Amino acid sequence: MSDSSLAPTTRIAPSILSADFARLGEEVKNVVAAGADWIHFDVMDNHYVPNLTIGPMVCAAIRPHVNVPIDVHLMVEPVDAIIPQFAQAGANIITFHPEASRHIDRSLGLIRDSGCKSGLVFNPATPLSFLDHVMDKVDVILLMSVNPGFGGQSFIPSTLAKLRDARRRIDAWVQAGGQPIALQVDGGVKVDNIAEIRAAGADTFVAGSAIFGKPDYKQVIDALREQIKKGETVAI
Ligand code: DX5
Ligand code: ZN
Repeated sequence: MSDSSLAPTTRIAPSILSADFARLGEEVKNVVAAGADWIHFDVMDNHYVPNLTIGPMVCAAIRPHVNVPIDVHLMVEPVDAIIPQFAQAGANIITFHPEASRHIDRSLGLIRDSGCKSGLVFNPATPLSFLDHVMDKVDVILLMSVNPGFGGQSFIPSTLAKLRDARRRIDAWVQAGGQPIALQVDGGVKVDNIAEIRAAGADTFVAGSAIFGKPDYKQVIDALREQIKKGETVAI
């Protein structure tokens, strides 16, 4: 694959899962000031994943404090009832796991009908074939590079080959006249591996523990961007 086939825009989406929840408003303001492109908002239900986090009320609470898209990653089952609630709470992008919806096409339609960008999330062992009949209904493809449920886990290396596969699918789709689709990666993304993740075709990078808890968010985000540029010079 040549460099030119990579999507032109890259984005960093800090995951607030690793933020200090006691100071969440301040945390999101600081990370946006430090250069975050999206705010990644992890929703866990202690059912689809073994952890419990935040819902539409918290999304509505941070909405006035951020002027960038809020990217809601639903790790909940079922998904449909919560979609309009997040749209109402100011979400811009809503993604969900295909295993968590009985009717994937319907859930994707619900997201777009609510005025948000829609996306499907693939666990490490979930095949990309779930995309086969819904490419026209997705704006984001999110590949999990850890099993969902917790921050601070290690990047699973087989995600790189899966990213290349997803990149080929997206490029072929766009070349055939399809809508643009972001290729997002989530889990274990750090300064020292983001270049190879970019080289494998990702354009949107979720990073939680790499950013939050560090003394200088801007310094980390700048370092991530510098490494992303390096990844673009690597032939894959
Ligand atoms: C995991 C979440 C991730 C998580 C990433 O289920 O979806 O967004 O916060 O955290 P790090 O970057 O620490 O792996
Ligand atoms: Zn996430």
